[in-house]
Amino acid sequence: MYSIFLSPLCGELEWGCFSYFRCVNKIRFVFRYLRYLLKARTRHGTHSPFVYNLLEEVIYDTSHFYVFDEIESLREKLLRDERTINIKDYGAGSTINSSPTRKLKDIAGNSAKAQKYGQLMFRLIQKFKPQTLLELGTSLGISTVYQASAAPKSKLITMEGCPETASVAKQNFEKLKLNNVEIVVGNFDETLSSTLNTITKLDYVFFDGNHRKAPTLDYFKQCLTKINNDSVFIFDDIHWSNEMEEAWEEIKANPSVTVTIDLFFVGLVFFRKEQKKQDFIIRF
Ligand SMILES: C[S@@+](CC[C@H](N)C(=O)[O-])C[C@H]1O[C@@H](n2cnc3c(N)ncnc32)[C@H](O)[C@@H]1O
Repeated sequence: MYSIFLSPLCGELEWGCFSYFRCVNKIRFVFRYLRYLLKARTRHGTHSPFVYNLLEEVIYDTSHFYVFDEIESLREKLLRDERTINIKDYGAGSTINSSPTRKLKDIAGNSAKAQKYGQLMFRLIQKFKPQTLLELGTSLGISTVYQASAAPKSKLITMEGCPETASVAKQNFEKLKLNNVEIVVGNFDETLSSTLNTITKLDYVFFDGNHRKAPTLDYFKQCLTKINNDSVFIFDDIHWSNEMEEAWEEIKANPSVTVTIDLFFVGLVFFRKEQKKQDFIIRF
């Protein structure tokens, strides 16, 4: 059992020290996932009416929308796209490909959120009807198009540091005829505060860039200044590294936060004062 589980991961050991650390990180990640599976509950173990309702109507909902097919067909095309672009790498960077030039098909395969999560965000937006949405980390725009399609009358500002990646994302928004998306190009460290100055409130934020502790907490705190009682924040990759787990613990402990839901690959955060402070781990 041990060898079946770990040998594919450790096959990389021979690639040298870098691969050794990647292998150790992968093993840690597998253990985090097993810990999650042991702790996670389904709707039957959930006594909060708010969370139970969210599980029924959003998290476990399987409704299909026509736009999902359009978005997945766009993803399929990107996954076959041999074009190469120059990458300006930010944040924690790619652990899979650190080359400054990358094929679109590799970026689509490594960076874009899987369809299950795009569709979860789509349903969350349909449920809470946010008017002002923000996304940190556009990449090629796959998650952006899921979110923007769920709220065609709302405005989604998406932020990306790499100009060539952002330019492909813009083409994708045009292909799907989305006119409610604005893309801000530049390092979040420089663009976030000026972007927040242009809006009065933030109903929804998806944090999916720069997966390190200090920047994640910095962006979280900046966004907190614009929340209201019904705002929803989604954090990507909360168990991706020790740093991200530490950031997630601090986010949960923040006094403005009432309910959090850990779905392992993403964490949902709510600020509803009518809820008692509770952290849920839910199987998804
Ligand atoms: C994981 S990808 C986003 C994937 C996208 N949300 C999706 O699911 O389709 C993260 C993106 O954030 C960008 N990024 C990371 N750190 C950044 C920073 N400090 N400033 C601006 N962009 C950054 C990267 O260039 C990358 O394209």
